[in-house]
Amino acid sequence: MLVVLLDTETRWPLEATADSSVTSLALLADSPYSDYRFSSKSTMTTIDRKKLHALHERESKRFVADHPHSAALYQRAQSSLLGGVPMNWMKKWAGAFPIFVKSARGAHFTDVDNRDYVDLCLGDTGAMTGHSPDVVAEAVARRVREGITLMLPTEDSLWVGEELKRRFGLPYWQFTLAATDANRFAIRIAREITQRPKILVFHYCYHGTVDESFASLHDGVVGPRRGNIGPPVNPAETTRVVEFNDLNALEAALKHNDVACVLAEPAMTNVGIILPEEGYWRAARELARRYGTLLIADETHTICAGPGGCTHEWKLDPDFVVFGKPIGSGIPGATYGCSEEVAQRISARIQLEDCDVGGIGGTLAGNALSLAAMRATLEHVLTPAAFEKMIPLAKRFTDGVAQHIRAANLPWNVQQLGARAEYTFAAKPPRNGGESAAAADFELERFLHLYALNRGVLLTPFHNMALMCPATTPADIDQHTKIFASAVSELV
Ligand SMILES: Cc1ncc(COP(=O)(O)O)c(C=O)c1O
Repeated sequence: MLVVLLDTETRWPLEATADSSVTSLALLADSPYSDYRFSSKSTMTTIDRKKLHALHERESKRFVADHPHSAALYQRAQSSLLGGVPMNWMKKWAGAFPIFVKSARGAHFTDVDNRDYVDLCLGDTGAMTGHSPDVVAEAVARRVREGITLMLPTEDSLWVGEELKRRFGLPYWQFTLAATDANRFAIRIAREITQRPKILVFHYCYHGTVDESFASLHDGVVGPRRGNIGPPVNPAETTRVVEFNDLNALEAALKHNDVACVLAEPAMTNVGIILPEEGYWRAARELARRYGTLLIADETHTICAGPGGCTHEWKLDPDFVVFGKPIGSGIPGATYGCSEEVAQRISARIQLEDCDVGGIGGTLAGNALSLAAMRATLEHVLTPAAFEKMIPLAKRFTDGVAQHIRAANLPWNVQQLGARAEYTFAAKPPRNGGESAAAADFELERFLHLYALNRGVLLTPFHNMALMCPATTPADIDQHTKIFASAVSELV
């Protein structure tokens, strides 16, 4: 096995060795998932890949044996659903097939094999409210009987707009069915009022299926992100990409004076949790102003920081805020809000006669059902009191995981952002998407996910994130901590 140690600061190789006992980060030449991983210079615990493969095989067999009904449904689905799943990424769960759900409530769900799970994925934030909170179920049931979609406003939309204004500090709001659309429409408005063609995103960001955002850096050059299916044009034409937490790179990109907007999560959450460095957003905000670029804060995940997201917690001052997923407890709906100045500039450019064909739309957007769900969610579920409960639980998760990482001397770390926590296979928290992606270990991640799943805990797929909802309990978290400790002790 070839082992290359990398300096954590510079990322230059320190030494190469054939001795696997000193591996902590490595180019694993004999692994199909070869990748660079970072560690401190001190010797840390090695993951023995042979052992990992053997454990994974054992867990895979257990998974198949435990889920005969899911297996049968997956088999049946092959003849009607493309790839046997209703959405292509559902194939990517750890295990030979996805588990099929029977019912979900609060922080738990039951599968078709009658197994109960602690849900730390929570629909990748769509169910951060907990599954089917009573108050939302009742509001939705009422609305379903009173008209679902009309192309006319209901009073709920005003209540929600007023509440969003109070939480995020932006005066004007619009509604869509998905956060993706909210991002797309905010980008359109930014392009229209700045009359600039490009947007800027951070390397390894994720903002939904927004074409312009599937761009990444390849040796410093922008191109389609790996896996980008049928890009309409090379995203280098539409997008500038820089690393997060790098103000020089941001300024160099904005200096071209062709960037309409920066589309950003206040903290990156889709490639591990990457927090902004002290003063980053204040300086980035100033740069955006100086170069006439608007700032879109995509709070779809970072709403976990508090009732007004990072925008409120960190006193950000964006031109737009986007918020989707849990805003209606999982009933499809999302929103984008804008500043007074943006509102005036765009209003001046929209003609009444053409306002339905401007590329900002969606027949079902702003429908009565979504708005009823949003009102009930904001009024009764994602309240300040709920965050007071969820955030300490995320700390409990973080502390538990950190303790076992330390005890096993593993070159991993765990980060928390409000009600969300995530561990990465890097000794220090990555500063940007490039560092975080370089620390990814698909094989190890799948093993840990499968190990947890087999013992009744669902983690967010595709990375190691755990999210709290108002119904999550300390016992749920402790169950995960115990499982994590057991997985680690079997591994090392
Ligand atoms: C930060 C962020 N914004 C937007 C989206 C898109 O949300 P949706 O898929 O509901 O449109 C996602 C999805 O994961 C996201 O993580």
